[in-house]
Amino acid sequence: MPKGVRLPLEALEPYLLPTPVTEALDWQKIFGNAHPVELEVGFGKGLYLVNAAAAHPEVNYFGIEIVRKYQLLAATRLAKRELRNVRVACTDARPFLRDWVPSASLQRIHVYFPDPWWKKRHHKRRLFTGEFAATCQRLLMPTGELLVVTDVADYATLVRQTVAASTQLSEAEPPPEHTPSHDLDYLTHFERKFRQEGRTIHRLRFVNSPSPGTTKSLL
Ligand SMILES: C[S@@+](CC[C@H](N)C(=O)[O-])C[C@H]1O[C@@H](n2cnc3c(N)ncnc32)[C@H](O)[C@@H]1O
Repeated sequence: MPKGVRLPLEALEPYLLPTPVTEALDWQKIFGNAHPVELEVGFGKGLYLVNAAAAHPEVNYFGIEIVRKYQLLAATRLAKRELRNVRVACTDARPFLRDWVPSASLQRIHVYFPDPWWKKRHHKRRLFTGEFAATCQRLLMPTGELLVVTDVADYATLVRQTVAASTQLSEAEPPPEHTPSHDLDYLTHFERKFRQEGRTIHRLRFVNSPSPGTTKSLL
């Protein structure tokens, strides 16, 4: 199959979590095992999910993306590699996480290059609100962590302020910057683009335990 061609829906179904859902998610039922679960919000073309799932078969990954085209593109990449430890949903992560994901059920939450939506009339589209930060804390296991990466310095500040004001998560040492060994060896597609442009990348890590710095990161 040529690169970039989306697989038929039947082939993607094992990777898709259909929405809307009508009951709280049960990770064990969804993945068929009790491995820890990590969430990526706004996965775009899915590079992080593909690389992380291939490197960590002992972890289950769940991605939420609001754009259907990206959900199907990421599912195609996962299906071509038979990465059965990933499910992807197409929905607005904010109400979905608030209403359907069990408390203390996630080992990590990854939010990479969220859209900043600076214009006032677009603020309601922003992912990172006090409610979203509080939801992240509720969903994290006691030793869980929230990882946020952005190229926008003001957005990094907004995230820090929001997390401090709305949660008890503590900021910890960020993961070190990885040196890519090939063209797909980046955290995400946006990270590749921005690093190749020479932009500064802001990496934030917040931990749910009172002893920051002890948690191993997969970044
Ligand atoms: C700037 S892109 C970054 C994509 C990817 N994380 C990367 O780094 O390559 C932000 C992504 O978040 C998605 N997104 C924005 N708001 C969202 C929401 N409320 N729920 C789920 N996904 C959202 C967008 O559709 C877009 O794919």
